[in-house]
Amino acid sequence: MAYKVAVVGATGVVGREMLNILAERQFPVSEAVALASRRSVGRDASFGDKTLKVKALEDFDFTGTDICLMAAGGAVAKEWAPRIAASGCVVIDNSSFWRMDPDVPLVVPEVNAADIARYSRKGIIANPNCSTAQLVVALKPLHDAAHITRVVVSTYQSTSGAGNEGMDELFSQTKGIFVNDAIEPRKFSKQIAFNVIPHIDVFMDDGYTKEEWKMNVETRKILDKTIKVTATCVRVPVFVGHSEAVTVEFERPISAEEARELLREAPGIMVVDAREPGGYITPVECVGEYATYVSRIREDATVENGLSFWCVSDNLRKGAALNAVQIAEILGARYLKKAA
Ligand SMILES: NC(=O)c1ccc[n+]([C@@H]2O[C@H](COP(=O)([O-])OP(=O)(O)OC[C@H]3O[C@@H](n4cnc5c(N)ncnc54)[C@H](OP(=O)(O)O)[C@@H]3O)[C@@H](O)[C@H]2O)c1
Repeated sequence: MAYKVAVVGATGVVGREMLNILAERQFPVSEAVALASRRSVGRDASFGDKTLKVKALEDFDFTGTDICLMAAGGAVAKEWAPRIAASGCVVIDNSSFWRMDPDVPLVVPEVNAADIARYSRKGIIANPNCSTAQLVVALKPLHDAAHITRVVVSTYQSTSGAGNEGMDELFSQTKGIFVNDAIEPRKFSKQIAFNVIPHIDVFMDDGYTKEEWKMNVETRKILDKTIKVTATCVRVPVFVGHSEAVTVEFERPISAEEARELLREAPGIMVVDAREPGGYITPVECVGEYATYVSRIREDATVENGLSFWCVSDNLRKGAALNAVQIAEILGARYLKKAA
Protein backbone atom coordinates (compact mmCIF):
# COMPACT_ATOMS: atom_id res chain seq x y z
CA MET A 1 0.00 0.00 0.00
CA ALA A 2 1.38 3.42 -0.92
CA TYR A 3 -0.28 6.74 -1.53
CA LYS A 4 0.38 9.88 -3.52
CA VAL A 5 0.23 12.64 -0.89
CA ALA A 6 0.10 16.41 -1.43
CA VAL A 7 0.83 18.92 1.33
CA VAL A 8 -0.80 22.31 0.76
CA GLY A 9 0.95 25.04 2.77
CA ALA A 10 4.28 23.23 2.58
CA THR A 11 6.23 26.44 3.27
CA GLY A 12 4.32 27.16 6.49
CA VAL A 13 5.13 26.05 10.02
CA VAL A 14 2.48 23.30 9.99
CA GLY A 15 3.10 22.16 6.39
CA ARG A 16 6.82 21.73 7.04
CA GLU A 17 6.04 19.58 10.09
CA MET A 18 3.59 17.53 8.01
CA LEU A 19 6.37 16.62 5.58
CA ASN A 20 8.74 15.89 8.49
CA ILE A 21 6.24 13.64 10.23
CA LEU A 22 5.20 11.77 7.07
CA ALA A 23 8.88 10.92 6.59
CA GLU A 24 9.59 10.28 10.28
CA ARG A 25 6.67 7.84 10.67
CA GLN A 26 7.41 6.24 7.29
CA PHE A 27 3.94 6.87 5.99
CA PRO A 28 3.60 4.78 2.82
CA VAL A 29 4.15 7.51 0.24
CA SER A 30 4.51 6.63 -3.45
CA GLU A 31 4.99 10.31 -4.29
CA ALA A 32 4.99 13.46 -2.14
CA VAL A 33 4.08 16.85 -3.56
CA ALA A 34 4.77 20.18 -1.82
CA LEU A 35 2.27 22.93 -2.68
CA ALA A 36 1.94 26.55 -1.62
CA SER A 37 1.01 29.87 -3.21
CA ARG A 38 2.54 31.13 -6.46
CA ARG A 39 4.93 33.21 -4.31
CA SER A 40 6.76 30.06 -3.25
CA VAL A 41 7.11 28.23 -6.56
CA GLY A 42 10.57 26.68 -6.87
CA ARG A 43 11.44 26.93 -3.16
CA ASP A 44 12.84 23.82 -1.49
CA ALA A 45 10.84 21.73 0.99
CA SER A 46 12.51 18.92 2.96
CA PHE A 47 10.91 15.51 2.93
CA GLY A 48 13.10 13.11 4.90
CA ASP A 49 16.39 12.91 3.02
CA LYS A 50 14.78 14.25 -0.16
CA THR A 51 14.20 17.83 -1.25
CA LEU A 52 10.95 18.67 -3.02
CA LYS A 53 10.44 21.71 -5.26
CA VAL A 54 7.39 23.66 -4.18
CA LYS A 55 4.64 23.94 -6.80
CA ALA A 56 1.66 26.27 -6.99
CA LEU A 57 -1.63 24.92 -5.64
CA GLU A 58 -3.49 26.78 -8.40
CA ASP A 59 -1.62 24.96 -11.16
CA PHE A 60 -1.70 21.46 -9.68
CA ASP A 61 -3.94 18.71 -11.05
CA PHE A 62 -5.07 16.50 -8.14
CA THR A 63 -6.21 13.64 -10.36
CA GLY A 64 -4.38 10.54 -9.08
CA THR A 65 -3.48 12.13 -5.72
CA ASP A 66 -4.92 10.06 -2.86
CA ILE A 67 -4.55 12.29 0.20
CA CYS A 68 -4.14 16.05 0.57
CA LEU A 69 -2.92 17.40 3.90
CA MET A 70 -3.95 21.04 3.94
CA ALA A 71 -2.46 23.79 6.14
CA ALA A 72 -3.01 27.03 4.26
CA GLY A 73 -5.74 28.83 6.20
CA GLY A 74 -9.54 29.01 6.05
CA ALA A 75 -9.94 30.93 2.78
CA VAL A 76 -7.81 28.44 0.84
CA ALA A 77 -9.62 25.52 2.51
CA LYS A 78 -13.03 26.96 1.73
CA GLU A 79 -12.26 27.34 -1.96
CA TRP A 80 -9.99 24.36 -2.58
CA ALA A 81 -11.03 21.50 -0.29
CA PRO A 82 -14.27 20.73 -2.21
CA ARG A 83 -12.50 21.05 -5.56
CA ILE A 84 -9.71 18.69 -4.47
CA ALA A 85 -12.22 16.24 -2.96
CA ALA A 86 -14.19 16.28 -6.23
CA SER A 87 -11.10 14.92 -8.01
CA GLY A 88 -11.17 11.83 -5.73
CA CYS A 89 -8.48 12.99 -3.28
CA VAL A 90 -9.38 12.96 0.44
CA VAL A 91 -8.59 16.28 2.15
CA ILE A 92 -7.43 16.47 5.77
CA ASP A 93 -7.71 20.16 6.58
CA ASN A 94 -6.10 22.05 9.45
CA SER A 95 -8.03 25.30 9.16
CA SER A 96 -11.15 26.06 11.16
CA PHE A 97 -13.32 26.42 8.06
CA TRP A 98 -14.79 22.87 7.84
CA ARG A 99 -14.57 21.82 11.50
CA MET A 100 -18.16 22.42 12.51
CA ASP A 101 -19.75 21.25 9.24
CA PRO A 102 -22.05 18.36 10.23
CA ASP A 103 -20.92 16.40 7.16
CA VAL A 104 -17.23 16.74 8.00
CA PRO A 105 -15.76 14.56 10.76
CA LEU A 106 -13.60 16.45 13.25
CA VAL A 107 -11.09 13.93 14.49
CA VAL A 108 -8.49 13.34 17.17
CA PRO A 109 -7.59 9.66 16.68
CA GLU A 110 -7.06 8.92 20.40
CA VAL A 111 -10.64 10.09 21.01
CA ASN A 112 -12.92 9.50 18.00
CA ALA A 113 -11.03 7.61 15.28
CA ALA A 114 -14.26 5.85 14.26
CA ASP A 115 -15.64 9.17 12.99
CA ILE A 116 -13.13 9.03 10.10
CA ALA A 117 -15.59 6.61 8.43
CA ARG A 118 -17.80 9.61 7.66
CA TYR A 119 -15.09 11.14 5.45
CA SER A 120 -16.92 9.94 2.34
CA ARG A 121 -19.79 12.44 2.79
CA LYS A 122 -17.71 15.37 1.54
CA GLY A 123 -14.27 13.85 1.06
CA ILE A 124 -13.02 16.19 3.79
CA ILE A 125 -11.82 15.46 7.34
CA ALA A 126 -11.09 18.32 9.73
CA ASN A 127 -8.27 18.61 12.23
CA PRO A 128 -9.18 20.53 15.39
CA ASN A 129 -7.68 23.69 16.79
CA CYS A 130 -4.26 23.05 18.34
CA SER A 131 -5.46 23.83 21.88
CA THR A 132 -8.48 21.56 21.52
CA ALA A 133 -6.43 18.60 20.29
CA GLN A 134 -4.20 18.33 23.35
CA LEU A 135 -7.12 19.07 25.70
CA VAL A 136 -9.35 16.26 24.41
CA VAL A 137 -6.49 13.74 24.45
CA ALA A 138 -6.12 14.45 28.17
CA LEU A 139 -9.85 14.59 28.90
CA LYS A 140 -10.84 11.36 27.11
CA PRO A 141 -9.65 8.77 29.67
CA LEU A 142 -11.00 10.88 32.54
CA HIS A 143 -14.37 11.28 30.83
CA ASP A 144 -14.62 7.54 30.17
CA ALA A 145 -13.98 6.86 33.86
CA ALA A 146 -15.99 9.51 35.71
CA HIS A 147 -18.02 11.51 33.14
CA ILE A 148 -17.00 15.15 32.82
CA THR A 149 -19.69 17.78 33.30
CA ARG A 150 -17.66 21.01 33.04
CA VAL A 151 -14.17 22.16 32.01
CA VAL A 152 -12.49 25.47 32.84
CA VAL A 153 -9.35 25.95 30.78
CA SER A 154 -6.81 28.78 30.49
CA THR A 155 -4.30 28.50 27.68
CA TYR A 156 -0.75 29.76 27.30
CA GLN A 157 -0.33 29.55 23.52
CA SER A 158 2.96 29.90 21.69
CA THR A 159 3.55 32.28 18.81
CA SER A 160 3.98 29.46 16.26
CA GLY A 161 0.23 29.01 16.65
CA ALA A 162 0.05 32.15 14.52
CA GLY A 163 2.31 30.69 11.82
CA ASN A 164 5.62 31.88 10.40
CA GLU A 165 4.73 35.53 10.99
CA GLY A 166 3.94 34.94 14.67
CA MET A 167 7.32 33.38 15.37
CA ASP A 168 9.11 36.10 13.38
CA GLU A 169 7.37 38.81 15.39
CA LEU A 170 8.45 37.33 18.73
CA PHE A 171 12.02 36.96 17.45
CA SER A 172 12.33 40.46 16.01
CA GLN A 173 10.64 42.20 18.97
CA THR A 174 12.83 40.32 21.46
CA LYS A 175 15.99 41.36 19.60
CA GLY A 176 14.65 44.90 19.11
CA ILE A 177 13.98 45.48 22.78
CA PHE A 178 17.67 44.97 23.62
CA VAL A 179 18.69 47.70 21.17
CA ASN A 180 15.80 50.06 22.05
CA ASP A 181 13.97 49.69 18.71
CA ALA A 182 10.38 50.93 18.66
CA ILE A 183 7.87 48.09 19.04
CA GLU A 184 5.43 47.87 16.13
CA PRO A 185 2.91 45.04 16.64
CA ARG A 186 1.78 43.57 13.32
CA LYS A 187 0.60 39.98 13.68
CA PHE A 188 -0.37 40.41 17.33
CA SER A 189 -2.48 43.25 18.73
CA LYS A 190 0.12 44.29 21.34
CA GLN A 191 3.78 43.73 22.11
CA ILE A 192 4.35 39.96 22.46
CA ALA A 193 7.99 39.95 23.58
CA PHE A 194 8.16 39.92 27.43
CA ASN A 195 4.36 40.20 27.56
CA VAL A 196 1.16 38.11 27.41
CA ILE A 197 -1.94 38.92 25.34
CA PRO A 198 -5.40 37.68 26.41
CA HIS A 199 -6.76 37.71 22.87
CA ILE A 200 -6.52 35.08 20.08
CA ASP A 201 -8.67 35.34 16.92
CA VAL A 202 -11.60 37.77 16.66
CA PHE A 203 -14.03 38.83 19.40
CA MET A 204 -17.53 37.33 19.40
CA ASP A 205 -20.75 39.07 20.52
CA ASP A 206 -20.73 37.40 23.96
CA GLY A 207 -17.23 38.68 24.83
CA TYR A 208 -15.41 35.39 24.23
CA THR A 209 -12.85 35.25 21.44
CA LYS A 210 -13.30 32.87 18.51
CA GLU A 211 -10.35 30.79 19.76
CA GLU A 212 -12.21 30.33 23.08
CA TRP A 213 -15.44 29.49 21.23
CA LYS A 214 -13.56 26.92 19.11
CA MET A 215 -12.29 25.15 22.24
CA ASN A 216 -15.86 24.93 23.49
CA VAL A 217 -17.65 23.70 20.35
CA GLU A 218 -14.83 21.49 19.08
CA THR A 219 -14.40 19.69 22.43
CA ARG A 220 -18.12 18.96 22.41
CA LYS A 221 -18.11 17.74 18.79
CA ILE A 222 -15.12 15.44 19.34
CA LEU A 223 -15.68 14.20 22.88
CA ASP A 224 -19.24 14.72 24.12
CA LYS A 225 -21.79 17.41 23.33
CA THR A 226 -23.03 17.51 26.94
CA ILE A 227 -19.74 18.82 28.38
CA LYS A 228 -19.68 22.52 29.29
CA VAL A 229 -16.42 24.29 28.44
CA THR A 230 -15.30 27.80 29.33
CA ALA A 231 -11.92 28.91 27.99
CA THR A 232 -9.58 31.88 28.29
CA CYS A 233 -6.99 31.83 25.51
CA VAL A 234 -3.76 33.76 25.99
CA ARG A 235 -0.79 34.27 23.65
CA VAL A 236 2.57 34.03 25.44
CA PRO A 237 6.14 34.72 24.31
CA VAL A 238 7.05 31.09 23.63
CA PHE A 239 8.07 29.90 20.16
CA VAL A 240 6.60 26.37 20.15
CA GLY A 241 4.43 24.46 22.64
CA HIS A 242 1.00 25.26 24.02
CA SER A 243 0.29 24.93 27.77
CA GLU A 244 -3.07 24.70 29.47
CA ALA A 245 -4.22 25.00 33.10
CA VAL A 246 -7.32 22.80 33.25
CA THR A 247 -9.95 22.32 35.96
CA VAL A 248 -12.52 19.58 35.42
CA GLU A 249 -15.75 18.76 37.23
CA PHE A 250 -17.03 15.17 37.15
CA GLU A 251 -20.28 13.33 37.88
CA ARG A 252 -18.51 11.17 40.46
CA PRO A 253 -15.46 11.77 42.66
CA ILE A 254 -12.09 10.95 41.10
CA SER A 255 -8.90 11.09 43.11
CA ALA A 256 -5.64 12.54 41.82
CA GLU A 257 -4.11 9.07 42.12
CA GLU A 258 -6.87 7.44 40.06
CA ALA A 259 -6.58 10.17 37.41
CA ARG A 260 -2.80 9.73 37.29
CA GLU A 261 -3.18 5.98 36.69
CA LEU A 262 -5.84 6.46 34.00
CA LEU A 263 -3.71 9.05 32.21
CA ARG A 264 -0.60 6.86 32.43
CA GLU A 265 -2.42 4.09 30.54
CA ALA A 266 -4.02 6.35 27.93
CA PRO A 267 -2.73 6.62 24.34
CA GLY A 268 -0.81 9.76 23.39
CA ILE A 269 -0.21 10.88 26.99
CA MET A 270 2.90 11.06 29.13
CA VAL A 271 2.39 11.79 32.82
CA VAL A 272 5.28 13.73 34.37
CA ASP A 273 4.10 14.63 37.81
CA ALA A 274 6.61 14.67 40.63
CA ARG A 275 5.59 17.14 43.32
CA GLU A 276 8.97 18.83 43.50
CA PRO A 277 10.79 21.63 41.65
CA GLY A 278 11.04 20.65 37.99
CA GLY A 279 8.70 17.68 38.37
CA TYR A 280 6.46 18.89 35.51
CA ILE A 281 6.80 19.63 31.80
CA THR A 282 7.19 23.10 30.28
CA PRO A 283 6.70 24.00 26.61
CA VAL A 284 10.39 24.04 25.66
CA GLU A 285 10.60 20.38 26.71
CA CYS A 286 7.74 19.24 24.48
CA VAL A 287 9.10 20.63 21.21
CA GLY A 288 9.50 17.92 18.57
CA GLU A 289 7.66 15.35 20.71
CA TYR A 290 4.49 13.45 19.86
CA ALA A 291 3.06 13.19 23.37
CA THR A 292 0.64 15.36 25.26
CA TYR A 293 2.23 15.84 28.69
CA VAL A 294 0.15 16.02 31.86
CA SER A 295 1.59 17.34 35.12
CA ARG A 296 0.43 18.95 38.40
CA ILE A 297 -2.56 16.57 38.82
CA ARG A 298 -4.41 17.49 42.01
CA GLU A 299 -7.89 17.42 43.49
CA ASP A 300 -9.78 20.71 43.45
CA ALA A 301 -11.59 20.95 46.77
CA THR A 302 -13.43 24.17 45.80
CA VAL A 303 -15.99 22.29 43.68
CA GLU A 304 -17.72 18.92 43.95
CA ASN A 305 -15.73 16.15 42.22
CA GLY A 306 -13.10 18.54 40.89
CA LEU A 307 -9.64 17.90 39.52
CA SER A 308 -6.99 20.29 38.18
CA PHE A 309 -3.95 19.61 35.99
CA TRP A 310 -1.38 21.16 33.66
CA CYS A 311 -1.16 20.00 30.06
CA VAL A 312 1.56 20.75 27.48
CA SER A 313 2.02 19.68 23.87
CA ASP A 314 3.83 20.68 20.68
CA ASN A 315 1.14 22.67 18.86
CA LEU A 316 2.74 22.05 15.47
CA ARG A 317 2.75 18.28 16.09
CA LYS A 318 -0.19 16.92 18.15
CA GLY A 319 -1.91 20.27 17.67
CA ALA A 320 -1.66 20.08 13.89
CA ALA A 321 0.69 18.00 11.71
CA LEU A 322 0.95 14.82 13.79
CA ASN A 323 -2.80 14.65 14.28
CA ALA A 324 -3.32 15.04 10.52
CA VAL A 325 -0.80 12.30 9.72
CA GLN A 326 -2.38 9.99 12.32
CA ILE A 327 -5.72 10.53 10.56
CA ALA A 328 -4.08 9.77 7.20
CA GLU A 329 -2.62 6.56 8.64
CA ILE A 330 -6.06 5.34 9.73
CA LEU A 331 -7.67 6.51 6.50
CA GLY A 332 -5.09 4.57 4.48
CA ALA A 333 -5.15 1.42 6.59
CA ARG A 334 -8.92 1.15 7.10
CA TYR A 335 -10.57 2.87 4.16
CA LEU A 336 -8.38 3.55 1.12
CA LYS A 337 -6.30 0.36 0.98
CA LYS A 338 -4.56 1.19 -2.27
CA ALA A 339 -2.11 -1.34 -3.75
CA ALA A 340 1.35 0.01 -4.44
N1 LIG B 1 0.36 26.91 13.71
C1 LIG B 1 -0.39 26.08 14.43
O1 LIG B 1 -0.05 25.72 15.58
C2 LIG B 1 -1.65 25.53 13.86
C3 LIG B 1 -2.30 24.53 14.57
C4 LIG B 1 -3.50 24.02 14.08
C5 LIG B 1 -3.98 24.50 12.88
N2 LIG B 1 -3.31 25.47 12.20
C6 LIG B 1 -3.87 25.92 10.93
O2 LIG B 1 -3.01 25.49 9.87
C7 LIG B 1 -3.06 26.43 8.80
C8 LIG B 1 -1.65 26.89 8.46
O3 LIG B 1 -1.09 27.52 9.58
P1 LIG B 1 0.46 27.84 9.73
O4 LIG B 1 0.61 28.18 11.15
O5 LIG B 1 1.31 26.77 9.13
O6 LIG B 1 0.60 29.18 8.84
P2 LIG B 1 1.85 29.80 8.05
O7 LIG B 1 3.14 29.43 8.70
O8 LIG B 1 1.52 31.24 7.90
O9 LIG B 1 1.79 29.10 6.61
C9 LIG B 1 0.73 29.32 5.72
C10 LIG B 1 0.91 28.42 4.51
O10 LIG B 1 -0.22 28.58 3.66
C11 LIG B 1 0.23 28.84 2.34
N3 LIG B 1 -0.72 29.65 1.58
C12 LIG B 1 -1.20 30.86 1.91
N4 LIG B 1 -2.04 31.31 0.93
C13 LIG B 1 -2.06 30.34 -0.02
C14 LIG B 1 -2.72 30.20 -1.26
N5 LIG B 1 -3.53 31.16 -1.74
N6 LIG B 1 -2.52 29.07 -1.99
C15 LIG B 1 -1.71 28.11 -1.52
N7 LIG B 1 -1.04 28.16 -0.35
C16 LIG B 1 -1.23 29.29 0.40
C17 LIG B 1 1.53 29.59 2.54
O11 LIG B 1 2.27 29.57 1.35
P3 LIG B 1 3.26 30.79 0.93
O12 LIG B 1 4.51 30.59 1.74
O13 LIG B 1 3.45 30.54 -0.52
O14 LIG B 1 2.53 32.04 1.26
C18 LIG B 1 2.15 28.77 3.67
O15 LIG B 1 2.72 27.59 3.15
C19 LIG B 1 -4.01 27.55 9.29
O16 LIG B 1 -5.31 27.27 8.81
C20 LIG B 1 -3.96 27.42 10.79
O17 LIG B 1 -5.14 27.92 11.40
C21 LIG B 1 -2.16 25.99 12.65
